[in-house]
Parts: sequence; structure tokens; C-alpha cells
Amino acid sequence: MFFSILNTVLIVSGISGFLALLLVVAEHFFANYGECEIDINKGKKIIKVKGGSSLLSTLNENKIYLASACGGRGSCGFCKCTVNSGAGPLLPTEKPFLSNVEIKENVRLSCQVKIKEDIKIEIEESIFNIRKFKGKVEKIVDLTYDIKELTIKLIEPNDVSFKAGQYVQLEAPKYEKSKQPISRAYSISCTPEMKGYIQLIIRRVPEGICTTYVFDYLKENDVINLTGPFGDFLIQETDADMIFIAGGSGKAPIKSMVEFLTAKNCERRMVYMFGARTQKDLYFTEMFENFENKLANFKYVPVLSQPEKDSDWQGRTGYIPKYFDEFIINPKNTEAYLCGSPGMLSAVVKVLKQKGVPEDKIYFDSF
Ligand SMILES: Cc1cc2nc3c(=O)[nH]c(=O)nc-3n(C[C@H](O)[C@H](O)[C@H](O)COP(=O)(O)OP(=O)(O)OC[C@H]3O[C@@H](n4cnc5c(N)ncnc54)[C@H](O)[C@@H]3O)c2cc1C
Ligand code: FES
Repeated sequence: MFFSILNTVLIVSGISGFLALLLVVAEHFFANYGECEIDINKGKKIIKVKGGSSLLSTLNENKIYLASACGGRGSCGFCKCTVNSGAGPLLPTEKPFLSNVEIKENVRLSCQVKIKEDIKIEIEESIFNIRKFKGKVEKIVDLTYDIKELTIKLIEPNDVSFKAGQYVQLEAPKYEKSKQPISRAYSISCTPEMKGYIQLIIRRVPEGICTTYVFDYLKENDVINLTGPFGDFLIQETDADMIFIAGGSGKAPIKSMVEFLTAKNCERRMVYMFGARTQKDLYFTEMFENFENKLANFKYVPVLSQPEKDSDWQGRTGYIPKYFDEFIINPKNTEAYLCGSPGMLSAVVKVLKQKGVPEDKIYFDSF
């Protein structure tokens, strides 16, 4: 009896799965949505497009670049925009990234919305300034065993205007490990004053598509495609104290910010707590010690979580928040700038709030 029910369930699910697959294949090959109209920002721009692709990729083809850190896989939640009509029902893949307020306000993930009819959307005006550009990789430097710095000379256009803390999307072309070009987000690590160039700091992710390309295939003098600048992880123009917390390649946007503040002779009280596992993970130490010499109130504090047993490390060790009392002098008037994994961010934000740093003064980029 039990086996006959199980058999029936398996057969029914098999048939439904097959029919669903058939529908997807049929839609891919035979659906023809014809010409559709995308109305952007209440008629400010209207574009005619061929239906059938995602809103994100269709906008990209029309040189309107929404943020996308996962290349349209529905896993980063960056590609949000308001869709007032023509989007179809909200998909289960979108829900985890949208708050109840956003759902009420018709915010959608543009990579999950397929264009099948005329559609009305709203995007931030600043998105019209985002460009695709080409750059020549002038220099690749190993900063540690798993972190590289790329210096890219911009060739078309030959300059890009960005703010310290912003990021670009780097396109890894189709190669052995990837059947199609994919883009990933990388924070710009140089100061905006370095005209005509951008620098990136990239950490290898084992089996990662883009980082494997960068580490094992990309060579000096190669030309790469970038899009940007994106992001609102920016220095607030106040006189509050600043604490920066980031380890690994999270140093990229912090370096850009500190370099920028150094050029401006900023006198705000600032501390950068750089978390690393061992001495092998430290880099740009001398550079940040030089910032200490140039800036009136800047302190660089590397903290090792697991220094090797026989190491000669004399600096701080353990968990970064253990040192907050020493460096956060006036919590109510402190801004925190954090960069790291979602797990690291939520743990650090919790302690910062307990120490009295106001939640609305905690800014972060989640890598
Ligand atoms: C706003 C923003 C700025 C960023 N800036 C930088 C930067 O300056 N430098 C930098 O190195 N990276 C940065 N990242 C991360 C970067 O965009 C990529 O996610 C990362 O390089 C992995 O890409 P991949 O294609 O090699 O790996 P994927 O092919 O996307 O991933 C392969 C596997 O690794 C896992 N994975 C993905 N990312 C990580 C990770 N970081 N650690 C551990 N496992 C991971 C995935 O879950 C997957 O299983 C940034 C991300 C964001 C959102
Ligand atoms: S592009 Fe990442 S979720 Fe849409």
C-alpha cells in the first residue's frame, strides 16, 4: 500500500516536473512578446525594446546600468527598482531581499522581472550617470598569498568620476570555467584624485568564477570591461569621530577613503581597525603607518585573530570589539564604516550599538 502511494506521488511529481520544464523550454524558444515600451521615471525616458529578457539585462543593453553584484542570479539583491506596472507577480526568488515596505511600494529585483508587456519603472536619477568603460590592466601586484592589487588605466572613456567608497563591476569574459561573461562588484581602492586610473584589491575565493579568472587568467596589458561607479558607502561630511573596521580585501574602500581624507588634511579623530588572521594576511602596513604620520588624528590598528605560535607579533590580538573602549572615545558622536561578510557585519554592529554608537551612524558594505 505504502509503496503504491509512493509510486503514484513520484510519477505525478515526475510528470509535473517534466511539464514545467517543457513550459520553460517552450517559452524560451517560442514565446514572442514583440516590442514593449519601458517608461522610466514617469515619461522622462521611454525606450522601445524587444520583450523576452529580464528588465536588468534589457536596461543594460540600452546603456542603463542598475547595480548587480551577482550578475543577475537573484542572489545579491542589488538590482532593485520600482516597477509601477507590467512586472507580473512577485516571485519567490525576490521575497527574501524585499522588506514589507518595499513590497508595498512595488520594489522588485530587476533581474527577476521579465519584460512581457509595456512596463513603467522608477530609478534613481544618478543611475543615468553610470557608464560602461574599458581599461588596460597596467599592473598586477601580489599583496598577500591570496590578495592581488590591479592597477587599471582607463582607455574608453579615459576617466571616470567616483567618490571614495564606491565600487565598480568587473566583467570576467567567457572562459574555461564560465560559459558566459559574468560581472562581480569590486570596491575602488584608490583615491578619486588618481585621475585616469582605478585600482582594485581582489581576494581569491576558491572556485569563484571571477576571482579564478583574475588570479589564473588575467595578465598585465589585458583589456577589461568595467561598469560603474555604484554605491552609497560614502564618507559623511560631518565633524564626527570615525571608526573604520574591515579585514582582507575589505581594506579596498577604506584605503580609498583614508587616502582621500589624507589629501584633504582631515582633522577628524579616526581609527582604522584592520582584522587579519596571521601576519601573512597583513598588507599595506607601511602605507597606513604613513597615513598616521600625515594625518593629525589617525590611528591604524591591525588586530590578529590567530597569530602563529612562533610569531614575533607584538601588536593586538583577538577579537576587534575587545578594543572598542580604547578607541571609541565619544560613541554618540562616532560614525562607523564597516566592510566584510554579512556575519562579521552583524556581530560588529551589535557591539557598536551596545557601546552607544547610534545605528544611523553605522555605514557598511556587505561583501
Ligand atoms: C559592494 C561589494 C563590493 C565588493 N568589493 C570587493 C573587493 O573590493 N574585493 C573583493 O575581493 N571582493 C569584493 N566583493 C566580493 C565580490 O563581488 C565577489 O563576490 C567575490 O570576489 C567572489 O566572486 P567570484 O565570482 O570569484 O565567486 P562566485 O563564483 O560568485 O562564488 C563561488 C562560491 O564562493 C562563495 N563566495 C562568494 N563570495 C565569497 C566570499 N567573499 N568569501 C567566501 N565565499 C564566497 C559563493 O557562495 C559560491 O559558493 C564585493 C562585493 C560587493 C557586494
Ligand atoms: S542582480 Fe543580483 S539579485 Fe538581481
